[in-house]
Amino acid sequence: MKVTVVGAGAVGASCAEYIAIKDFASEVTLIDIKEGFAEGKAMDLMQTASLMGFDTKISGATNDYSKTAGSEVAVITSGIPRKPGMTREELIGINAGIVKSVVASLVEHSPNVIIIVVSNPMDTMAYLAHKSSGLPKNRIIGMGGALDSARFKFRLAEALGCPQSDVDGMVIGGHSDTGMVPLIEKAVRNSIVVSEFLSDERMQQVVEDTKVGGATLTKLLGTSAWYAPGAAVSSMVQAIACDTKKMFPCSALLEGEYGLNDLSIGVPCIIGENGIEKIVEIELSEAEMTKLHTSAEGVKKTNALLG
Ligand code: LAC
Repeated sequence: MKVTVVGAGAVGASCAEYIAIKDFASEVTLIDIKEGFAEGKAMDLMQTASLMGFDTKISGATNDYSKTAGSEVAVITSGIPRKPGMTREELIGINAGIVKSVVASLVEHSPNVIIIVVSNPMDTMAYLAHKSSGLPKNRIIGMGGALDSARFKFRLAEALGCPQSDVDGMVIGGHSDTGMVPLIEKAVRNSIVVSEFLSDERMQQVVEDTKVGGATLTKLLGTSAWYAPGAAVSSMVQAIACDTKKMFPCSALLEGEYGLNDLSIGVPCIIGENGIEKIVEIELSEAEMTKLHTSAEGVKKTNALLG
């Protein structure tokens, strides 16, 4: 399996690193517009192979998409990250043009590629990728829910004072500070709903901390986070490469599911060798459904800025 990662910045490089360490792909190609940057990151990563024990071959190229030919999966991380105080939506002006041209170049050289969009505002960039490429909807997946759910589990474990392996939970909705919908009523510790252990107030705090998970890190780091985003996207690539049929909340193009149409937003999806193999329509409470629809309105507002 050949994987391309577009953008050799922190998120792209972390993604390539985790893919290599898990050793399920034969080849990872890193692409960047900055001369020599992807080549340098690839060489540095390759020099960890004997230490970390992987055989994945990592190479880099400067804006040469012929090197991506034959990729089965491509991850788009290119564009600018947000700075402290910025929303993801403010990045649309610059990132829309970049994502559109990257999608075209990828599809030109790998007509069967499955694309995972990470660039922000992610739901709108995934929608743009759908609209500009016309690829079947199973082959464009937005990465947001896997990351937001990982941050949710971190906050749940923190509140419960337990290891993260004890908890499970999912975040659906838009990948934005206001749009995320952490499904707190459904979150569990070893199959017991967390409301058995946490007060309403503490659960609300978990929800709020989850929603601003990215913004909190951007404030601390001075730029957007990379370890958890890289790990989240590498898990999705693994699900495709190994055809695991794992369920992730992903930004998927909806055509009536959850009563929503003509937008890409986070909902539970089964991920396997064909990309999004199924959109799973779980039973949502009235409150959860209202939040998802409010989130969808926000995503549609950002989509409208695409002109
Ligand atoms: C974040 C970016 C990837 O949430 O949107 O860290």
